[in-house]
Amino acid sequence: MKIAIDGPAAVGKTSVGRALAEEFGGRFVETGKMYRAVALAFDRGIPLDEIRIEVTTAERFLLNGEDVTDRLHTPEYDQKSSQVATLPEVRVRLVELQREIAEQGDVVMEGRDIGTVVLPDADVKLFLRATPEVRARRRVAQREEDDYEATLAELGRRDERDASRAVAPLKPARDATIIDTDRKTLAEVISAASNLVRERLGKRWRGG
Ligand code: C5P
Repeated sequence: MKIAIDGPAAVGKTSVGRALAEEFGGRFVETGKMYRAVALAFDRGIPLDEIRIEVTTAERFLLNGEDVTDRLHTPEYDQKSSQVATLPEVRVRLVELQREIAEQGDVVMEGRDIGTVVLPDADVKLFLRATPEVRARRRVAQREEDDYEATLAELGRRDERDASRAVAPLKPARDATIIDTDRKTLAEVISAASNLVRERLGKRWRGG
C-alpha cells in the first residue's frame, strides 16, 4: 500500500499522514525533512556526493550518522530547504532514497512531488489545500510563534519557490483527490482522508 500526500507548507500533511499510517499500518515518511537535512549538510560544507541521509522507522533523520532531526524544523531551514529543493541534482538523490524506502513496505509519504514524481503509481493520492492565511495561523499556533505577518510572508516565499521551480513543481497529480481544508478541523480532514483510503483500497485493505 502506498499513500501519497502532497500540498503546500503548513497545510496539515504531517498530522494527516501520521494518522493514516497509524490507521492503515504503513510507515510514515516526511520527505521535507530530507531537504532540510541537505540544507543543513550544505551549511556544514559537506558536498552533495558525501551526504548520507538515513531515516529510521522511528522517524529519526540521520545525516552522515548523526541524528539531526531536532535541528531541522526551524524558520532558517524552512527557507534553506526550499532553496536546495530547486537543485535538480539534490532532487535526483532524494527521490532515489524515497523510492528505496517505499519499496521496503507499506508507506504513507508526504511532500510536494510524491504523487507526481516519487510514487506515480501510489494507491491513493491526496492533495491538501488551504489559503496562505489559514496556513499561517496554523503554523503560528503549531510553533507557538507570535508573528503572524512574518509567518505569512515566509509561507508566501516558499509557496512561490515551490510552485515555480523547473523540476517537480508543487502541483496535484492528475489523479489526486484534492481536499480543501480551510473550513475543516484537523479531525474532519483526517476523517475525509481515511474514508477515501478505505474506499480506494477496498478489499486490498485487510485492516479491521
Ligand atoms: O514539508 P517541509 O516544509 O518540511 O519541506 C521543506 C521544503 O522542502 C519545502 O518548502 C519544499 O521546497 C521542499 N520539498 C520538496 N519536495 C518534497 C518535500 C519538500 O521540494 N517532496
